Amino acid sequence: MKKIHYLSVALMLALGMSGCSSAASVPSEEAAVSSVSEAEESEAPEVNPAAEKEETEPEKGILVVYFSATGTTKGIAEKIASVTGGDLYEITAAEEYTEADLNYNDSNSRTTHEQDDPSVRPEISSETISLDGYSTVYIGYPIWWGEEPRIMDTFVESCDFDGITVIPFCTSGSSGIGRSGKNLADNAGSGNWLEGRRFDGGASEEEISSWISEMQ
Ligand SMILES: Cc1cc2nc3c(=O)[nH]c(=O)nc-3n(C[C@H](O)[C@H](O)[C@H](O)COP(=O)(O)O)c2cc1C
Repeated sequence: MKKIHYLSVALMLALGMSGCSSAASVPSEEAAVSSVSEAEESEAPEVNPAAEKEETEPEKGILVVYFSATGTTKGIAEKIASVTGGDLYEITAAEEYTEADLNYNDSNSRTTHEQDDPSVRPEISSETISLDGYSTVYIGYPIWWGEEPRIMDTFVESCDFDGITVIPFCTSGSSGIGRSGKNLADNAGSGNWLEGRRFDGGASEEEISSWISEMQ
């Protein structure tokens, strides 16, 4: 009888121990989660740093630069920016052009003197701009005496257009773009300059859009 009692006590002890040991051997929920995430971590695919860079590097944009003494070129620049989604940048003169300055019938006016001397470089007052984020720059101005206003030369000489496509555009009473685009390209000394185009002040967005499509 005693022997049977000892045996059942031993059996109970053995069962009790197995309950504890099973508790110890089954991982807790917390431990299970952490071990799963550890597994996930170790199985995570290797990231290609080049691909990651490609994704995060922003696409290079379009900039529309313009100088406009009486607002005509500004209107065309705004339409180009609207069609292309480009940023606008206005070149302003440190010494603003007055009506008397713009009088081309006066052989003594400021613009007559400036256009007579290709070495004149009127000072720019607008904040300098970095072209770093841009792949294409449209550059617009009015035609003065058949050429670009000298302030455009001040601008292009201050820029590095390396690796950038530059597209001149202008407005005028009737003259074409003439040699102004070439003058600017020569003075800039860098950039891939395309042939420019003259617009009437009243050119529509459709006209501008088809010009841009033709170049692509
Ligand atoms: C000093 C000066 C010279 C100009 N020379 C010419 C010219 O040679 N040929 C022409 O067709 N228009 C000429 N124009 C007219 C301008 O090119 C035209 O009005 C232009 O659209 C003005 O642009 P903006 O309003 O952006 O300044 C001249 C205007 C000025 C003020």
